[in-house]
Amino acid sequence: MQKLTHIVLDCDPGHDDATAIMLAANNPRIVLDAVTTVAGNQTLPKTTLNACRVLQWIGRTGIPVYAGCPGPFVRDPVIAGDIHGETGLDGPVFPECTKLPEQKHAVLFLIEHLRGSEEPVTVVTTGPMTNLAMALRLAPDISSRIGRIVLMGGSVGNGNVTPAAEFNMLADPEAARICFSSGVPLVMVGLDVTRKVLCYPEIVERMRKIGSCASDLFAALMSHFCKTQKEVFGYDGGPLHDPVTVAYLTDPSVLTLKDCRIEVDTTGGPSYGRTNCDVFGYAKKKPNAKAALDIDASRFWDLIEECFRRYL
Ligand code: BDR
Ligand code: CA
Repeated sequence: MQKLTHIVLDCDPGHDDATAIMLAANNPRIVLDAVTTVAGNQTLPKTTLNACRVLQWIGRTGIPVYAGCPGPFVRDPVIAGDIHGETGLDGPVFPECTKLPEQKHAVLFLIEHLRGSEEPVTVVTTGPMTNLAMALRLAPDISSRIGRIVLMGGSVGNGNVTPAAEFNMLADPEAARICFSSGVPLVMVGLDVTRKVLCYPEIVERMRKIGSCASDLFAALMSHFCKTQKEVFGYDGGPLHDPVTVAYLTDPSVLTLKDCRIEVDTTGGPSYGRTNCDVFGYAKKKPNAKAALDIDASRFWDLIEECFRRYL
């Protein structure tokens, strides 16, 4: 039997983050040790409340939530209200949230949890990488305790907030640079693959029909997310970026990966936040990451459907 992967999901919910939480919180291959939150799609109080709301909705209130950094290392905070709305999770009508975050700061939790775990923990980041970078700066010894970092962010090709940069990278380029140069094995799930899992209306309908608490929440989330993705990017279906990380940990065959050297541009010019991916090995530098180049979209949607059915 395949060993269970313990993960901490560091996120900024966020519609696609919320789906990643649902996929990780009830998964035969994964133990979700905790959810940590960061400012990104919305402010930290909002992303933290949203993580609690999602866990309460799906009946997983036993999974702890730790709030982390309210802003990036160097640059001014950016949010993605145009996509995720005023609350960060516009669309569903949530009941009053009774689940509370833990008192401990997410960065301190990460350090203690990584140091205390019997086996290495996988850190999945689906927001700006501020918390993890801060933890690595405060406690460099934890790098040997992280099994690997699986992140949604970056792009071999174009960005989505500038021609060069993807949102999670541009939201905190310096933090991303610290993580990419940490020596921890890293899988970059970038826009190159997440733009291939567009949530078309027929997919929303397929999931809605399942009728579990998770698929109901997903359908309500997608009603907002797909509308704003159409307005901002012209997509007929919203790219379901963040859950690709967890789908990959559930079934690695879903992604095609390539070893390469990835460096994050922190020079502050027009390519600020770009992930420069040397997929052809021009620079003759040792690879520090695996970049996702392709995705089996049909398998991905099957994994999402299987997940939603587990909540019946
Ligand atoms: C990333 O940016 C956020 O808006 C999404 O939640 C995702 O993590 C995509 O660029
Ligand atoms: Ca996110």
